[in-house]
Amino acid sequence: MATTNVPVTRVLSGIQPTGQLTLGNYVGAMKNFVKLQHEAECYFCIVDMHALTVPQDPKALYNATLDLARIYVAAGIDPNVATIFVQSHVPAHAELGWLMECSSYIGELGRMTQFKDKSAKQEVVTTGLMTYPCLMAADILIYQASHVPVGEDQRQHLELTRDIATRLNHRFGDFVTVPEPYIPSKAEGGRIMALTDPTKKMSKTLEDPNGNIYLMDPPKVIMNKIKRAVTDLGREVVYDEENKPGVSNLMVLLSLCTGQTLDEISAKYDGYGQFKKDVAEAIISVLEPIQQKVEELRAPGVIEEILAKGADKAEAVANRNLAVFRERFGLVPRRRA
Ligand code: AMP
Ligand code: TRP
Repeated sequence: MATTNVPVTRVLSGIQPTGQLTLGNYVGAMKNFVKLQHEAECYFCIVDMHALTVPQDPKALYNATLDLARIYVAAGIDPNVATIFVQSHVPAHAELGWLMECSSYIGELGRMTQFKDKSAKQEVVTTGLMTYPCLMAADILIYQASHVPVGEDQRQHLELTRDIATRLNHRFGDFVTVPEPYIPSKAEGGRIMALTDPTKKMSKTLEDPNGNIYLMDPPKVIMNKIKRAVTDLGREVVYDEENKPGVSNLMVLLSLCTGQTLDEISAKYDGYGQFKKDVAEAIISVLEPIQQKVEELRAPGVIEEILAKGADKAEAVANRNLAVFRERFGLVPRRRA
C-alpha cells in the first residue's frame, strides 16, 4: 500500500461534502483513515472550501458537511483518537493556500486531469477550480503530513503537492515535509469501478445512479444494483482486470468487505449467481451498522460538539506551522497593539 519505507507519523486527508458518498470513497479512502488512526497522528477534514470550486446549493452544502462528519464517525474514526474537523473552520488553510498559489505555476495547474475533466463539464469555470490543488497542498503541508491516504484519482494532485514542497525546500531551506501517497492498488480498492460500466470510476458525479453504491443505500437497493451489475463473458469468477473488469471489481468489493483473499473467492464460485448474492450481502453487512450509527449521530448537537473540539485541535497545529511558512516567505509577524 504505502509506496516507500518512510515511517507513517502524521496523516492528513479530506473528502468533499458534495453529493452522496459512494462505496468507492469508503474503500478507497475512508477505510484507510480508520486503520491509520491507530498508527499515526491523524487529521481528517471535510473539505467544504474545495466543494465551492463548482456551484453548490448553500443549504445542501451545509447539510452535506454535517452528514459527512457523521459518516466519518459512523465508519469508525474515533474523535478521541483522530482529529475530525471542517476545513473552513481553520482559516489557516486558506491563508497558506494563497502562499501555495504563489508557489505553483499556471502551466502545472492546467495540466491536472481533474481540472481538464471538470472544466469541460462546467458552463463557467471558476478560478478556484483551477487553483484547487493549491488549497489541497495547503491542507496537507500545514500539518507537515508524512502520508496522505487517498484513492488513485488523487495521485496527480499529490505529486503536485510534493513538487511544491520540494520547490519550497530548495528556495527557503529544508522546512517542509514532502508527503508520501498512501494509495491502495486497484485490487486493494484504490479504484472501484462503476457497476454499470466497469471502464468508468464509481463516482459521486456519475450520471447513472445505478453505477454507484451509495453508503446510505438501503439493503434492497444494494441487492438490486449488484444483481444488475455488468459482468463479463463466461462464468468463471477470476481476477482479470483487463478481460473481466466487471467481475474483478465485484471480487475486490467482496474481498474488502469480508477479508477473504481474491484467490479464496475465485476458488469458491463456479458461476455468477451465488457470487453476486454474496457480494451484495457482504456490502450490506458493512454498510448497515454505519447507516444506523449515522442516524444516532443526528441527535442535536452531537456532531457539532465533535467538530468544535476537532477545529480547536487542528487550529493549534495549523497556526503554529503557518507561522513558520510566513516567516520563511518574509512576511512580517503581526504584533498586537
Ligand atoms: P471525492 O469524492 O472526490 O471527494 O473523493 C474522496 C476520496 O475518495 C478520495 O481520496 C478519492 O481518491 C477516493 N475515491 C473516490 N472515488 C473512488 C473510487 N471509485 N475508488 C477508490 N477511491 C475513490
Ligand atoms: N481533492 C480531494 C478529492 O477530491 C479532496 C482533498 C482536499 C484532499 N484536500 C485534501 C485529499 C487533502 C487529501 C488531502 O478527493
